[in-house]
Amino acid sequence: MVFPSFKASIERLISIVCVLCVVWCSIVPAARAEAINPDVKRYLAPEGTAAVKLDDRGNTREFSAEALTRGRALFMENCAYCHANGLTLPFPAVSLTREDLAGATPPRDNIQAFVAYLRYPMTYDGSEETFWCREVPESWLSREQIEELAAFTLQSAEKIPGWGTVPSRF
Ligand code: HEC
Repeated sequence: MVFPSFKASIERLISIVCVLCVVWCSIVPAARAEAINPDVKRYLAPEGTAAVKLDDRGNTREFSAEALTRGRALFMENCAYCHANGLTLPFPAVSLTREDLAGATPPRDNIQAFVAYLRYPMTYDGSEETFWCREVPESWLSREQIEELAAFTLQSAEKIPGWGTVPSRF
């Protein structure tokens, strides 16, 4: 009689382990999946990715909603206190709208030019270095990080209602 009850306990143990495995396997990947910011999902990448202008030759690059969310976090931490909602609070004439970015010399409305600007900020007419904006050296943000920051900002300039004109929505 000892053996069957022992067998039943083992069976019960195995089924508990199985249930735990199923629960674990369904919870852990969901918890690990990166959170997508609701504004990114709603405005910037409703399809899950967004094609952002890469250079001045008309090429684009796809950025995932996760990458744009990481770019948004960098923007919020490091840029938003001067550029809330795309405005340039210390110097409103040079905002982060599509028009202002496109009107600079050289235009800053694509990833490559935007990154070049951040690595070495220049005045609006491109004639000299400016010390007003925050320079972003490679020792601080890697190429990938700065491109995600640029993609978030450029896509916001395209898609977020009131970006660069209405004081902080965020
Ligand atoms: C201390 C305030 C400050 C911070 C922080 C700051 N900026 Fe700026 N930014 C400015 C000012 C002021 C200008 C205009 C400078 C000029 O034209 O001389 C500017 C200009 C710019 C421009 C050019 C806009 C155009 O229309 O040509 C871009 C792009 C930009 N900033 C991006 C960023 C990003 C991205 C960050 C975060 C890494 C950042 N800035 C952080 C103040 C700031």
